[in-house]
Amino acid sequence: MTIQPTNTALLDWTGDTLAVGLFEDAVDLTGDLAILNDNLGGLLKELIAEEEFTGKANSTIVARVGAGHPVRKVILVGLGKPDALKLETLRCLAATVARTAKKQKTKTLAISLPVWNNDQAATGQAIAEGTQLALYQDIRFKSEPEDKNPPIETIDLLGLGGQEAAITRAEQIVSGVILARQLVAAPANAVTPITMAETAKAIAKDHGLHLEILEQEECEKLGMGAFLGVAQASDLPPKFIHLIYKPATTPKRKLAIIGKGLTFDSGGLNIKGAGSGIETMKIDMGGAAATLGAAKAIGQLKPDVEVHFISAVTENMISGRAMRPGDILTASNGKTIEVNNTDAEGRLTLADALVYADKLGVDAIVDLATLTGACVVALGDDIAGLFTPDDAVASQLQTASESAGEKLWRLPMEEKYFEGLKSGIADMKNTGPRYGGSITAALFLKQFVKDTPWAHLDIAGPVWADKENCYNGAGATGFGVRTLVNWVLS
Ligand code: BES
Ligand code: MN
Ligand code: ZN
Repeated sequence: MTIQPTNTALLDWTGDTLAVGLFEDAVDLTGDLAILNDNLGGLLKELIAEEEFTGKANSTIVARVGAGHPVRKVILVGLGKPDALKLETLRCLAATVARTAKKQKTKTLAISLPVWNNDQAATGQAIAEGTQLALYQDIRFKSEPEDKNPPIETIDLLGLGGQEAAITRAEQIVSGVILARQLVAAPANAVTPITMAETAKAIAKDHGLHLEILEQEECEKLGMGAFLGVAQASDLPPKFIHLIYKPATTPKRKLAIIGKGLTFDSGGLNIKGAGSGIETMKIDMGGAAATLGAAKAIGQLKPDVEVHFISAVTENMISGRAMRPGDILTASNGKTIEVNNTDAEGRLTLADALVYADKLGVDAIVDLATLTGACVVALGDDIAGLFTPDDAVASQLQTASESAGEKLWRLPMEEKYFEGLKSGIADMKNTGPRYGGSITAALFLKQFVKDTPWAHLDIAGPVWADKENCYNGAGATGFGVRTLVNWVLS
């Protein structure tokens, strides 16, 4: 599929489907649309009246145009109120248009939407992201595709001539989001620590990043007892992935991104019971998936920022070798942890990844993790929890997430709650009381970062969508990639 920005006028465009946006309560056709309506013998006005179309955001009507006209179909899409128009509205509208056009067996599509905030580049990028993300279908595990409609071949973005660079940027970012979706959606017998390392290798090779994979022995030498404690019951070797993007010139900043990489979380000996969602725990590498997705995008975008992409990848399994509830592990910074619950494993793997990243001398660290069910209880499916003691990093991430269309909500790092992690025998326990569970998890992570500004994103909710929404189909969302890219580019 090719996305082409063009200055072709609406009335001059010829092809299968022309999609045009109309603001709410302003659906009287004027200008080019009035002419188009006349050319079509008043068809558009008739349909607007018949379908009681008011221009409510994301509402659509489709008009089949008779033979002898330059277009086969017209899609009218509601833009909502002019004041409420955001970049995210356009991303979502573009997705609605693309899906509708596909159902209408469109091969060539033109989209005419208003420019947001006089910013043609941001508008072109958002529309291109929305269409591509919406049209992506994961058919890797189907023997036959269910959607029998032909693929859309070209999408012309009317009024955005000259915005080729913005479209390319969108394509590079989307390639990262789709990689993250694919990694999360694939089951744990397809995505393993070994294949995650192979994926990192492919990114390094394709986009010129440097790669280090620390095998188990090297992790042992570094004293990563917390990570290896989690890994010890798995029949698969753990892989500590460290991908490095270095710009050609001196970097203006150095950053580290860490993702929780549990390719499956059974809970360990505190095994997840019926109704716990154990069958969905392939998603527990969503942080690592976002990290690798961001690496793929950054490798193409080539900003003048050095970025380290890190994940301690393993499974949380049971066997005679499994860590027992009550075992004490020593992390690579020397701190000891009483594992009072083997299902709080993500923070154990992150502990060693944070200690490692902290030694790289970066300006800031962000980790992403499907860390706690408690965060889903607090914020629901659509919003990630943001935890950081650093107001500057918090505001950078909030700005980055806003234009990405990915929602974050800052939650407090209430130091007093660390009392819940006090252990009688070790430096700390890995699990506190039920209430405030995502906060104690964040406080646990904080023990493994010295002075580097750091933020933690709990993405347990938004990593997966039960229902289709805007540009996300049901399933893996690729959450985090766009926010990370914006953060690195900021
Ligand atoms: N991977 C889970 C968290 C999770 C839950 C992710 C739901 C996605 C959806 C994590 O390892 C876990 O099991 N957390 C426990 C922590 C508890 C034992 C302190 C939880 O949230 O119940
Ligand atoms: Mn767990
Ligand atoms: Zn987990």
